[in-house]
Amino acid sequence: MGKLFNNELPPLLHALFLVCVCVCAHVCVCVCVCVCVCVGCGLEFLLVLCGLELSQACPRHCICYSSPSTVSCQAHNFQVVPEGIPAQSERVFLQNNKIQRLLQGHFSPTTVMLWLYSNNISYIQPSTFTGFTRLEELDLGDNRHLGSLAADTFQGLGRLHALHLYHCGLLSLPAGLFDGLHNLQYLYLQDNELEFLEDDMFVDLLNLSHLFLHGNRLWSLHQNTFRGLGTLDRLLLHQNRLQWIHHLAFHDLRRLTTLYLFNNSLPELAAESLAMLPALEYLRLNDNPWECDCKVVPLWDWLRRFRGSTSSVVCVVPPGLAGKDLKHVKKEELPACTGSESLHQSKSSQGDVGHFPTSSSSLPAPPKAGRNRTCTRYRGRKGKGQNEFPDGSPQRRKNKCIPRTSVGPPIGVQRANKALMLQACSLLTPLSLVVPLITFILR
Ligand SMILES: *[C@@H]1O[C@H](CO)[C@@H](O)[C@H](O)[C@H]1NC(C)=O
Ligand SMILES: *[C@@H]1O[C@H](CO)[C@@H](O)[C@H](O)[C@H]1NC(C)=O
Ligand SMILES: *[C@@H]1O[C@H](CO)[C@@H](O)[C@H](O)[C@H]1NC(C)=O
Ligand SMILES: *[C@@H]1O[C@H](CO)[C@@H](O)[C@H](O)[C@H]1NC(C)=O
Repeated sequence: MGKLFNNELPPLLHALFLVCVCVCAHVCVCVCVCVCVCVGCGLEFLLVLCGLELSQACPRHCICYSSPSTVSCQAHNFQVVPEGIPAQSERVFLQNNKIQRLLQGHFSPTTVMLWLYSNNISYIQPSTFTGFTRLEELDLGDNRHLGSLAADTFQGLGRLHALHLYHCGLLSLPAGLFDGLHNLQYLYLQDNELEFLEDDMFVDLLNLSHLFLHGNRLWSLHQNTFRGLGTLDRLLLHQNRLQWIHHLAFHDLRRLTTLYLFNNSLPELAAESLAMLPALEYLRLNDNPWECDCKVVPLWDWLRRFRGSTSSVVCVVPPGLAGKDLKHVKKEELPACTGSESLHQSKSSQGDVGHFPTSSSSLPAPPKAGRNRTCTRYRGRKGKGQNEFPDGSPQRRKNKCIPRTSVGPPIGVQRANKALMLQACSLLTPLSLVVPLITFILR
């Protein structure tokens, strides 16, 4: 050992120890003072002011980190999009601020994920997202003063995968708004004030899996409202004002497994419209003013044969059946049809059911809600057990409730904080090793 020290210092001690003490102005720009300790060449100390910039600038009050390049500025009362978002940013988190306007140039076209939910956005310049060919997730939800969007706002977003527009005070959707969004899988439009959907509104959404339209003011669905949605899995239309559904309204939805129509104003529904849904597993029809007169026979028959899971279908008329679940009514109990009605009925059972709504004033009031149904359990009908889950996958059973759109703190941000702490630790470790060394050398 002694020999080693006398003759030659081990290569490790020849090495240059570089210790940086960083003074951070704000989190991303650090000015560093570096102390170089050269052990091999005698006791020399070099004090070097490096003035090193460790990373790209980061907007004030934001946290930035790399791989993937992320700017996190949530919950800071920003009224405008902060300046200085780095040009190569991939993930930008600006939720829970008070931003009012989105303009061209605010964000970088390299953005992949952009969260702007729970702000106060009332205007989006149509060119804000022009050229954002890498954008995959855009969350504009919970901006209740937004109200309207220009038809070309999302033009060219061919990679977009999830678009959140819930609770945005939207009164209508301009035709063409979703054109070209071939990769969109999740479209959240719930809790707006939509009364009407243009025909072919969703016709380009070849990959759409979830379409959430609940909590709007829709009162009718037309033959081509949902045209083109050949991969749609879930269609949520509950808590609207639906009075009328065209008997061909669901004609393209061959992969649909979940259809929610509860809490609407439907007096009737063509069995034919449901017969067009070969993949249907979960149907919710409760809390509608069902008229169980002789016109209901095709629906009664469809429900009897349907092998998936359904809610109750409680009748409000005729008086003899009011309060009864249509699914448990025997055919003999259904009112007999008089001559003209039975003619109509036999046509209906051949599938030619496409009634226009009776005037809404003549509609009975919807029954009082006794149960909370927004997160209905998929419970099979008696005695069928697992059979209603053809794939038998436990995953499907676990996923009983439609998850709320996430509004919690983003995972990435938590990661960012952890990453910063790790960086701080890794800075401290060599420091704690070297400080005793320096004092040793000084002696
Ligand atoms: C949100 O924006 C509206 C106008 O669009 C404005 O009247 C309101 O004061 C804003 N609210 C906040 C909290 O900034
Ligand atoms: C979207 O649909 C197209 C055409 O149907 C298909 O080629 C593509 O792989 C799909 N993309 C996704 C993400 O499913
Ligand atoms: C039905 O929807 C309306 C809004 O359209 C809502 O006010 C009401 O609470 C809902 N009722 C139930 C039973 O969910
Ligand atoms: C159902 O809703 C009522 C109010 O309508 C509420 O008091 C009750 O806690 C709710 N039950 C569940 C299980 O959410």
